Amino acid sequence: MVKIELFEVDHVRVHWILSRSLAVKHNLAHSYCLPRSISDLQQVGDSNTSIEIFSPILSKALDYGPMKGSETLRSNISRCYSTESSIHLPIDNILTTPGASLANFLVLFALLGADDHVIVQYPTYQQLYSIPTSIGVDVSLWKSKKSDDWKLDLDELRRLIRSNTKMIIINNPQNPTGAIISKQTLEGIVRIAREHSITVFSDEVYRPLFHSISPTDPEFPPSILSMGYENTIATSSLSKAYSLAGLRIGWIASHNSEIIDVCVNARSYALITASQVDEYLASFILSPPRALGLIEMNCTLAQRNLSLVQSFIDENSSVCEWVKPVGGPLGFIRFTRSGKPVDDLELCTRLLERRGVLLVPGRKCFGDGVNFSGYVRLGFGGDTNELEAGLKALQGFLQNDYANVPLLTGYD
Ligand SMILES: Cc1ncc(COP(=O)(O)O)c(C=O)c1O
Repeated sequence: MVKIELFEVDHVRVHWILSRSLAVKHNLAHSYCLPRSISDLQQVGDSNTSIEIFSPILSKALDYGPMKGSETLRSNISRCYSTESSIHLPIDNILTTPGASLANFLVLFALLGADDHVIVQYPTYQQLYSIPTSIGVDVSLWKSKKSDDWKLDLDELRRLIRSNTKMIIINNPQNPTGAIISKQTLEGIVRIAREHSITVFSDEVYRPLFHSISPTDPEFPPSILSMGYENTIATSSLSKAYSLAGLRIGWIASHNSEIIDVCVNARSYALITASQVDEYLASFILSPPRALGLIEMNCTLAQRNLSLVQSFIDENSSVCEWVKPVGGPLGFIRFTRSGKPVDDLELCTRLLERRGVLLVPGRKCFGDGVNFSGYVRLGFGGDTNELEAGLKALQGFLQNDYANVPLLTGYD
């Protein structure tokens, strides 16, 4: 049996809550933008609200569909890359999947083997290091710290490289911090990878939700696919920036056709093809100007909500702080008392029990490879009124219950 670590973020949400029969009144543990309905989407990007969105799919024979995914969908995905970063990506170099989870899984499962070594940006989404570990790959965590604004150190990357390093895995923008890897650092990563013939795999599921950096900023990170290096892979989906996790559509893209071919083969074992109905709806959403309209809406919402969270943090600066996120509707907040970190799991447990607020405990869900004591992940992409109510409940907790949350000893 493959030994695979518990997937902590989902475990916390499902088992930890269910086992206590607790009602979540204020869910601030999500990492996506406000989910939209199909009716909402009919009004995004154009004024024609009477489009019969389903009519073309009603008469379509529901066979498996094209082996790499719907051609219309793949050309819309390709257009998103060319609009954003002037990347020309033939549709044959794009492979659809049900969500970025499966895209990531296929990349890692198809391209890595037990003799390989990978370097994974850290902290990050657990899947990106636990899947390689489960298939016997040697994993080095490329750690970043809050004190460095979660920036990655290229000298450290050089030190981590071994003769069998096969892949550098990054997540840009990053879960849980909302930090970005700047254009200059991406260039450095690609330079080093090219010198050693290492593949760079970037999970870009939070692109293009950049709420706090302008595309004209010199640090603005383009997609990894724009760096002029063939051995790069990007995965993404409609779940986060596009706020449509229920569609379960994601993709793998690479300029290297051999990489895509290997993933196509692995995909045949796991799913054959993605749902044609989902792909049809995804094509509708990713058609310009709808895709741009949706991102603009979600960015405006994230900016408005971020300012609420920032005010909350400013008002409570004696007990909490963060590095203000740049992209993705999420951030990593550290809670302390008299300068000492509180027990984040205990904080989240009591907060949920007493105020119905759900946050993600940092040490439990993102590992303890760096000192994540006192950290919680907060998602701010949802409805503004709900976020306000959640922050109010959190404020109530800080006033009445926080003094009794135990501190973590052995950390500073
Ligand atoms: C970095 C990252 N990658 C991938 C995923 C999975 O996304 P999807 O819903 O597209 O499967 C998540 C979900 O939280 C994520 O945070």
